[in-house]
Amino acid sequence: MSDRPSQSALDPAGSGAESIAELFWVMVAGGVGIWILVIGLAVYAIIRPGEHNARMTRLMVIGGGAVFPTIVLTGLLTYGLSILPELQRPAPEGSQVVEVVGVRWWWRVRYRLEDGSTIETANEIHLPVDEEVEFKLTSEDVIHSFWIPALGGKTDMIPGRENRLKLYPKKQGVYRGVCAEFCGAAHAQMSFDVVVQSREEFDSWLAEFRLPDTDQDHPGKVVFRRRGCSACHTIRGTDDDGLVGPDLTHFGSRRTIGAGVMKNTAENLGRWITATHAVKPGVEMPTFDSIDDDELDALVEYLGELR
Ligand code: CUA
Repeated sequence: MSDRPSQSALDPAGSGAESIAELFWVMVAGGVGIWILVIGLAVYAIIRPGEHNARMTRLMVIGGGAVFPTIVLTGLLTYGLSILPELQRPAPEGSQVVEVVGVRWWWRVRYRLEDGSTIETANEIHLPVDEEVEFKLTSEDVIHSFWIPALGGKTDMIPGRENRLKLYPKKQGVYRGVCAEFCGAAHAQMSFDVVVQSREEFDSWLAEFRLPDTDQDHPGKVVFRRRGCSACHTIRGTDDDGLVGPDLTHFGSRRTIGAGVMKNTAENLGRWITATHAVKPGVEMPTFDSIDDDELDALVEYLGELR
């Protein structure tokens, strides 16, 4: 994909990621400095053998072996720990809350609205820029780890427990998030896109997004039911209310298919439905290779129109 979203922790677009990148560079600079010092001493020892007295040698061992590392490591530890309080501070009251649940091998995403209700989507998170956002993270099955390298640190998603993560995106754009804890066969194919946009764009996305599907008569919808898709997938506004798989209410507007596996195009969607396990080995969704061409066309068209 040429327009692949950024996934670099060293190209930060949020305040958490900035502190982490800074910590990384301080560590690198410290490591390089000490390496040069040690190599310098080694070279000196090789080209000037025999010019050492016992007192200097003892000083080197105590100074270089105990005093110096104690000072350097204490300094780095203090600096590293000083970053933590800000990273761990919860988002202020009234911040946008996003609940994300790790599922083998995709992401259930819920937005809590002002009236207390929630709407669900999957594998794509929209965030307003320059605002602190509170994530509530958990898992439905095994331990996953939620990580958007360009925005902040990773946080484990543990079944039966809710972990909090505050992020503060500072640059608009699309960033890639990944699962950072090995969680089974398709762990490496468990990613998501994060769209950071202006408050206005975010509000209109959310307003659009909370609307249910109204196209009840599409021929693809008949296929969706006949083929049993609704046993696992919800499309809000219809009787399709399966909870096992991703909510598909606005599937057509999503950027990717299969938790970041492919771009969301009609051709890829056809492949996803008919060759699911070839595209993403281990995926829980069955392969629908018995579906005929007309059915597939109608289904792909219907899902693509769910915007
Ligand atoms: Cu989920 Cu690795």
